[in-house]
Amino acid sequence: MKHKNFLAALLLSPVMVMAGTVKSPNGNIVVNFSVDQQGRPTYDMTYKGQAVVKPSHLGLQLAHDKHASKGLKETDLMTGFTIKKEETKTFDETWRPVWGETATIRNHYNEYAATLTQSTEQRTIIIRFRVYDDGIGFRYEFPQQKELNYFLIKEEMTEFAMTGDHKAWWLPGDYDTQEQETQETLLSEIRDRMQKAVNWGNSSVAVFSPTGVQTSLQMKSQEGLYINIHEAACADYATMHLELVDAKTKALTTKLEGSSNAYTPNPTPSPYPLPAAFTFVSHLTPDATGLKGAMQTPCESPWRTVMVSDDARDMLSSNLILNLNEPCKLEDTSWIHPTKYCGVWWEMIVGKSNWHYTDDFPSIKLDQIDWQKVKPHGRHAANNEKVRRYIDFAAKNGLDEVLVEGWNVGWEDWANMWKRDVFDFVTPYPDFDIKALNAYAHSKGVKLLMHHETSSSTQNYERHLEDAFTLMNKYGYDAVKTGYVGDIIPRGDHHYSQSMNNHYLHVVKEAAKHHIMVNAHEATRPTGLCRTYPNLVGNESARGTEYEAFGGSRPDHTCILPFTRLQGGPMDYTPGIFVTKLSEWSDNTSWARITIAGSLALYLTMYSPLQMAADLPEHYERFDDAFQFIRDVACDWDESIYLEAEPADYITVARKAKGTDNWFVGGKCDEQGHKSVIKLDFLDKGRKYDCTVYADAKDAHYETNPQAYTITKKVVKAGDVLKLTEAPGGGFAISLIAK
Ligand code: NOJ
Ligand code: CA
Repeated sequence: MKHKNFLAALLLSPVMVMAGTVKSPNGNIVVNFSVDQQGRPTYDMTYKGQAVVKPSHLGLQLAHDKHASKGLKETDLMTGFTIKKEETKTFDETWRPVWGETATIRNHYNEYAATLTQSTEQRTIIIRFRVYDDGIGFRYEFPQQKELNYFLIKEEMTEFAMTGDHKAWWLPGDYDTQEQETQETLLSEIRDRMQKAVNWGNSSVAVFSPTGVQTSLQMKSQEGLYINIHEAACADYATMHLELVDAKTKALTTKLEGSSNAYTPNPTPSPYPLPAAFTFVSHLTPDATGLKGAMQTPCESPWRTVMVSDDARDMLSSNLILNLNEPCKLEDTSWIHPTKYCGVWWEMIVGKSNWHYTDDFPSIKLDQIDWQKVKPHGRHAANNEKVRRYIDFAAKNGLDEVLVEGWNVGWEDWANMWKRDVFDFVTPYPDFDIKALNAYAHSKGVKLLMHHETSSSTQNYERHLEDAFTLMNKYGYDAVKTGYVGDIIPRGDHHYSQSMNNHYLHVVKEAAKHHIMVNAHEATRPTGLCRTYPNLVGNESARGTEYEAFGGSRPDHTCILPFTRLQGGPMDYTPGIFVTKLSEWSDNTSWARITIAGSLALYLTMYSPLQMAADLPEHYERFDDAFQFIRDVACDWDESIYLEAEPADYITVARKAKGTDNWFVGGKCDEQGHKSVIKLDFLDKGRKYDCTVYADAKDAHYETNPQAYTITKKVVKAGDVLKLTEAPGGGFAISLIAK
């Protein structure tokens, strides 16, 4: 924006200025912004001179509503704009996350903001771009004004015109779930793959279009550019999906088989022509009324983000999403801590024991049952004896917390019943002595980790929230795993709507008041809000390890997630399955497609400040020498260096444990196997390290020989080289302890 022509134009005649350009600090990324002849805001983006986003339009369609801007005919925020003012600035600051992959994060960008007026309506909006070395963010801002006060969003019409038929790693666009396996296809192949791509058996599925996909969407162009589209700071706004709008879009009006939603194509293409083939248009998640947002100015949209690089590792080390979020809003964060935990969980997921306590009733009314008189069925896992066993295991192995699911009454008919009063979150089953178990845990230096399954009955949860958190404070719980299984109650709303996004954030904020950390399952996918509220230590929002008991996930699944789901924040993936063939100890015939060494690698490649050791204590005791790595590994870091990466193929990362001189290195690969050559040039010069390598044995294989690993110890120094072979579906983990 500093070039002379532009300045001259600005000085001579501000009204005539119809375009601006802004470059990233290193000059590699350039964004052009203008308003076209119809007054449509338009942008494009290049990287090292190559087009990344071809000229694409920006705008919103508004819904007509009697309450919106009194007396005014509602018009869309699509056309008729002129640029009234342009502002630029440079920002460069380094901040310290409460927890993270690195001790400090540099937030360095050039900003360009255009104030636009729609003269016929006398309305003003601002479109703001922040251009970083690793990508861009832009958003719509709606200043408070008489002519734009309250408004309803029919659809956001942000376009992302791609330059060609890129390879894409995508999930079906869905208003309710991301628990799907990633598809790897060309953009042109999405439509034909969609029906097959969906696991229709998930407890809440609402696929909206044959060409709709989720963000974060990872792509790779034929020319080798890695491009990622996502969003940052999605608060008081609906989650955005992307719809690839093509020639067939308008013609299709049928319902996707198995979807609870009619296909609702974006009205985008008409009356405006699309800028290019392979154009994505934003598609927001509707609420129960079908609308996509109820706004009151002043307000703004989340940031729409496009990351780009010619090196896949930059996709993983990028802090773009966090940087676009607001700084931490919690004054005291001393109570927030990285957490390693185990839990009374996996045996229920595989079906060996149960969350519920009795089989005696066809249904449960919480206020009509005397639980002391109820006959137990004998398979209730959250019982005093078992929980003590887990507490002992955690204490012995240096794990911080023990998750206990199924501790509270209501599990007899908890899911998919449209039952509003499903849990009260405060009444334990008779065989779970909440007071004694917490006291026992604390006496051993361990905490219990609370579980609140809401069954998506969100009003019920909000009603009980204060009592539930007060109970946690009373007994010394400092973290809660929440869950949103099933369709949202009240009916018609969706997991990713504006109202639900507000619910999740409300829970995080209320939890902070009680000094409680939150790990929300099935909630909306993260967009970096953990920077602002670092007590949001985890989310699921993708297909986690539980699916290894529901038929399994492909071996490359965990080599994709860091490129996609993890962009917005950490995932409670619940790794660490050592006995991968579940039939060895249960009636479940599913199996995890991973080796033991590969499972260890996940503690490094799937960054999270919250890490579970998900398998049973007796399985870890069987492989205690391998479990040593889980005992040792940190989950908070001063430095992280991505050494190798290719989406869906392999990821290798070295991390320096917070406040220490110790390093840990992990490598995870897909079903092909992978060879890694690791130069230890990140170690301190002149220092020696005790190095332990946990690797796949020569004949290891995720299917035929998953438990074959080797452990080698040696002393190493900076500059040494380690050569490692990862088995199909395998990986490795290394600890480097400074001497
Ligand atoms: C689904 C969650 O992902 C899983 O971890 C949990 O055990 C069940 N819901 C029950 O809440
Ligand atoms: Ca889940």
